[in-house]
Amino acid sequence: MVLVTGGVGYIGSHTVVELLNENYEVVIVDNLCNSSMLVLDRIRKITNKEFKFYNLDVTDKNSLKIVFEENDIDSIIHFAALKAVGESVEKPLEYYKNNIVGALVVFDLMKEYNVNNFVFSSSATVYGKPESCPIREDFSLSTTNPYGATKLMIEDIMRDLSRANKNLNLAILRYFNPIGAHISGIIGEEPKGIPNNLMPYITKVAIGQLKELNVFGDDYDTPDGTGVRDYIHVVDLAKGHLAALKKLKEKPGLVTYNLGTGQGYSVLDLVKSFENVSHINIPYKITDRRPGDIGMCYADPTKAYKELGWKAEFGIERMCEDSWRWQSNNPKGYEENSELLDMITSEI
Ligand SMILES: NC(=O)c1ccc[n+]([C@@H]2O[C@H](COP(=O)([O-])OP(=O)(O)OC[C@H]3O[C@@H](n4cnc5c(N)ncnc54)[C@H](O)[C@@H]3O)[C@@H](O)[C@H]2O)c1
Repeated sequence: MVLVTGGVGYIGSHTVVELLNENYEVVIVDNLCNSSMLVLDRIRKITNKEFKFYNLDVTDKNSLKIVFEENDIDSIIHFAALKAVGESVEKPLEYYKNNIVGALVVFDLMKEYNVNNFVFSSSATVYGKPESCPIREDFSLSTTNPYGATKLMIEDIMRDLSRANKNLNLAILRYFNPIGAHISGIIGEEPKGIPNNLMPYITKVAIGQLKELNVFGDDYDTPDGTGVRDYIHVVDLAKGHLAALKKLKEKPGLVTYNLGTGQGYSVLDLVKSFENVSHINIPYKITDRRPGDIGMCYADPTKAYKELGWKAEFGIERMCEDSWRWQSNNPKGYEENSELLDMITSEI
């Protein structure tokens, strides 16, 4: 059985769908601090499969222990974390407490219950300001904000754990920029308040909830001056976790992979692709650079391809189509009525 912490969230829910489709037994733990209970029914509707769910906080060891006690867990995918860079600068303590303590509690219980397989959601943010692109896994690591620091610290803890215990099989997955949604249009990304990330910002402008897009800087050393990122479809990313789980069964010790497409797109490239698929004009305004942002960031994903046999399949247009289907079907995110859900799912 696979324990998925944070499995109600954006990437977690898409990964649970892929796990269930591949007939894994799944138990989700989530405290719903950044997600909605409605996701659970939607996962059931997409997969027609059952799974277990515990509404609890992973930093609460006594509660999480019950999950290990009641279920025969052999592997863990650990998504549960706070993830907003800006918020982490304002509330560092919350980020260190939630992300670091959460991971430590999970590691403790793995030891107690002899669970040896663990997949961790890391991020391209651990490359800091990369020396060049594409970024390889052996590039130097650094961070510029508390969120990134929690990711790098947990990676360091994993490297230490792996040195100390040769039975552990640990995968560090460094995600680039996940966008898109499940093709059903019933699960997707639902940021609270004004989105930090580009795609949800674009889709909120497209449905008229935000007036225009702010483009943070057009004077970077990139082809059109706007920031370049490696956007990856969330379903491709989800499948990367299944590939990593299979790798862990080979008992490799500690492994680290970039999960990206290897292709960089600028802010304006993404806006154009979105306009092409949605036929909606996205008004934008160029503003100052955002502190801490870098010009260019895209992956060299060849290691994941060579060792996991995994590579991203979906291109930028499909990512835009799926993001738009999700947003236009769910203008208020998950707080829609169930009638609409029935209507949409009858078309899958
Ligand atoms: N989305 C991205 O751009 C991105 C990029 C790189 C890495 N990541 C990492 O991937 C993981 C998943 O990200 P996401 O985009 O799906 O975020 P998300 O906020 O949608 O999902 C995280 C889930 O974890 C839950 N959670 C948080 N703290 C918890 C706690 N203490 N106990 C139990 N549940 C808790 C939240 O309620 C939420 O459902 C995170 O670790 C994030 O840092 C995300």
